[in-house]
Amino acid sequence: MKKQEPIYYLNGKFVAKSKAKISLWDLGFLRGYGVFDYIVTYKGGKPFLLKKHLKRLNNSAKIIGLKIPWSSNTLEKLIVKTLFKNKNGKEKIIRIIVTGGETMDGISLGSKPTLAIMVYDRKRYPASLYKRGVNVITFNYNRESPQAKSLNYIQAVKAMNIAKKKKAAEAVYVYKNLDKVYEGTQSSLFIIKKGTIFTPDGETLPGITRELINNICKKFYPTFMKEVKIDELFNADEVFLSASNKEILPVVKVDNKVIGNGKPGDITKQIMSEFRKFVESGRW
Ligand SMILES: Cc1ncc(COP(=O)(O)O)c(C=O)c1O
Repeated sequence: MKKQEPIYYLNGKFVAKSKAKISLWDLGFLRGYGVFDYIVTYKGGKPFLLKKHLKRLNNSAKIIGLKIPWSSNTLEKLIVKTLFKNKNGKEKIIRIIVTGGETMDGISLGSKPTLAIMVYDRKRYPASLYKRGVNVITFNYNRESPQAKSLNYIQAVKAMNIAKKKKAAEAVYVYKNLDKVYEGTQSSLFIIKKGTIFTPDGETLPGITRELINNICKKFYPTFMKEVKIDELFNADEVFLSASNKEILPVVKVDNKVIGNGKPGDITKQIMSEFRKFVESGRW
């Protein structure tokens, strides 16, 4: 039987993946001018923390000076409709993208933004990664407009290319000039030292998973958002990454230096289990 193509929403229409086309003059394509958000589903297709993702999408747009003419309510309805068109019993990834639209002169905003909603089957990371933990590399970079989830992932693509060659699951942005650790290319970062949990402060993407984990951590341990220095990453007792699809991924090596005893730590495992309970509760 022929595999059903995913159905996307694009500028007012539902179209099959192979028919979803945008203009080469789209500011997203031509100049990388646009924002997006990335949402997973659980529990038979319910988008996880959707309202928070849509709030962040709006904030990202504000930061780059793009006005989103659709209310979050309208976007939510469009997402639900797109999910319905793709219903096949599997959990999904939702990518919502808003760009500056089709430009007339290559730099001015188009008359209306481009809006795309892509829905496709969610692929989980192998269970073995969560059991054994992963290696990460560091990558020297200070993101532009770090609080915006903009389309500019140039350094992320470059860093992940290097990471893959080194058999690392993620690259963590550090900035040597300022002695700072920020986040992964597609994840937030947590470090644990002597029973205290830290996550790098403000100059990072406000991760939706990070916010949830912060609240879980606070129930059990002193938990802070603060500037994290590069040494603190290498000398941590435990390190983990968080992101919508990765959830909580333990890190056991940074640039080949072993973290803790080289295995996912006890606090990380406890937070992973609390996270799972929250997801399973369905109270979100
Ligand atoms: C730079 C960056 N930081 C953090 C995250 C994690 O964000 P969230 O937990 O909302 O998925 C992502 C997600 O892709 C990201 O791209």
